[in-house]
Amino acid sequence: MTPFRHRHVLGIAGWTREDILQVLDLAETFREISERPIKKVPTLRGRTVVNLFLEPSTRTRTSFEIAAKRLSADTINISDSTSSTVKGETLLDTARNLQAMRPDVIVLRHSASGASAFIAQQVDAAVINAGDGLHEHPTQALLDCATIRKHKRPGATDLAGVTVAICGDIAHSRVARSDVLALCTLGAKVRVAAPRTMLPVGIEALGAEVHDRIEPAIAEADVVMMLRIQKERASGPGLFPNTREYSRYFGLGSRAAALLKEDAIIMHPGPINRGVEIDPAVADGPRSVILDQVTQGVAVRMALLYLVGGGFQEL
Ligand code: CP
Repeated sequence: MTPFRHRHVLGIAGWTREDILQVLDLAETFREISERPIKKVPTLRGRTVVNLFLEPSTRTRTSFEIAAKRLSADTINISDSTSSTVKGETLLDTARNLQAMRPDVIVLRHSASGASAFIAQQVDAAVINAGDGLHEHPTQALLDCATIRKHKRPGATDLAGVTVAICGDIAHSRVARSDVLALCTLGAKVRVAAPRTMLPVGIEALGAEVHDRIEPAIAEADVVMMLRIQKERASGPGLFPNTREYSRYFGLGSRAAALLKEDAIIMHPGPINRGVEIDPAVADGPRSVILDQVTQGVAVRMALLYLVGGGFQEL
C-alpha cells in the first residue's frame, strides 16, 4: 500500500485529490466489516486511541469509538464534563499528560480553531481533528465525499459533473469549510446559499459559487446539503429576523424540495433542527441519505485510524 502522506489529520486544506481518494478507497474496503456478524478485525490490536471530546458530539465521537473497536484498538473516551479541564487544566497540560500514557492516536474536538494543530506539535501521537471551532471538520467532509461518491459516482476517481448545494449557516460552519475544500478538490461544482449575514467573506476564493437565496442554488443540484444554525458559534446581533422567517426562506420544506431534481439526494451532517433548516418529511423522505452519511462515517474513520494509527506497520 502507498504510505499515507499525512502524519495527522488536521484539515482538508493542503490535501490533494489522491490523499482524499486514498481514504475513500480504503473506507470502501472497510465498509463490509460493519455488515459481518462479528464486526472486528485485528488490524490495530495493541494500539491505543484516545477520544478527547471537549465539545458535545453524538455522531463523531461514537463513530470514532466504534471504528477503533472494529479495528481492535483500545479506546478511551474523555469528555469535557469528566476531564480535569473543568478544574482549570489547560489543553496543553491535558495533551502532555495524555502523551505521558503513550497513546497512538488522539482524536480531538475543541471549541478553539487550531486546537488540533496546536496539540499535534506537543505530542508524539497522531492527531485527528474531530472539529475545531470555526476552522475545519475534515472527517465529516471525507464521509460526505464518500456518501456522494457512493450515490452519484460509484467507484469514480473524482466528482466531476456533480453539483452540490450547501445551504444554511455557512459562516459559522466548520463542516461547510471542509466540504467546500474537499468537494472542489474532487472536481465537484459547489454552490453555497445563505442569508448574507451567514456568508463568510472570501468563501468564493475556496471555489464555491455564492447565492443569497436557496432556490437558484438547489435548482438542478445533484446533492443538497442542509446545515443547522450554529448558535454555539454565532455571536453579535441577530443574523435573521426570526426562526419562522429563516425556515420559510432558507429551510428545505416541501415548497423548496419540489424544485429539486427527481434524483437529487438530500444530506445533513447532523444534528438536525427539525422544522428549522429542514422539514421532518424531507429529512425522513426517500431522497434523504442522512443516515447513510452516519454509516459511511464509521468506514471513513476506520480508514483514517488505520492510515495514521500505523495499521500497515508490523507490530
Ligand atoms: N456531524 C457531527 O459532527 O455531529 P456530532 O456533533 O454529533 O458529532
